[in-house]
Amino acid sequence: MSTETPTFGEDTVAEAKELIARYPQSRSALLPLLHLVQSVQGFVSQEGIAFCAQQLGLSEAEVSAVATFYTMYKRKPCGEHLVSVCTNTLCAAMGGDAIYKKLQDHLGSEGAPLGHEEVAGTPGEPGSIMLEHAECLAACDLAPVLQVNYEYFDNQSEQSAVELVDALRRGDKPAPTRGAPLSDFKTVERRLAGLLPTDDDEFWSDVDGPSQAVETLRGAQLAADRGWTAPAAPEDVPLPEVEAK
Ligand code: FES
Repeated sequence: MSTETPTFGEDTVAEAKELIARYPQSRSALLPLLHLVQSVQGFVSQEGIAFCAQQLGLSEAEVSAVATFYTMYKRKPCGEHLVSVCTNTLCAAMGGDAIYKKLQDHLGSEGAPLGHEEVAGTPGEPGSIMLEHAECLAACDLAPVLQVNYEYFDNQSEQSAVELVDALRRGDKPAPTRGAPLSDFKTVERRLAGLLPTDDDEFWSDVDGPSQAVETLRGAQLAADRGWTAPAAPEDVPLPEVEAK
């Protein structure tokens, strides 16, 4: 009999069951389970695919089809941190492309720039960083933006981005512009799986961070200051029937 400790031990199986129990149909828990797998391994390995399939009564092909569709599921081991630079249109025009190129060169080694989803350092080790370019991160009013483990750093420049990754490599956890305090990729994957901190202080520090930015609310504030309202909907347009749930 093998004495090797299984990658997904009893605790992970129990947490998987807890997540599955939240849904009327077990297969609906696949996305949270893939995040749970990443919180253990730092990526979705073939073993992780098999684990999800076994817990949910799906085939490995069905789980693979989902894991390879969404970019948040990494098929290669991630760094302690995931740095996502928005290179979509608005951020690109405002400097996002230049920031991504700068970080590729800065995090690369021996003259070779770091590629998309490649890691500077040893994956999973302290200070290691996976770099990726990302599509619109839904913060265009604060462009150019980047995220570390999905927390926002707004209004970035090449210099501020380099200072940020250098701080991460030293083991520092700079405060994001908004959202929860910075942790690491695996911890955030537990949150994305739906497993919230049980410690009260940790829970509230996660949800009490600054949320919306002044820039995001500027339009609504202007309208409120000037008494502008949206035109009323015409009364004679029938609303569609909504099926009862
Ligand atoms: S284009 Fe970068 S956040 Fe939208």
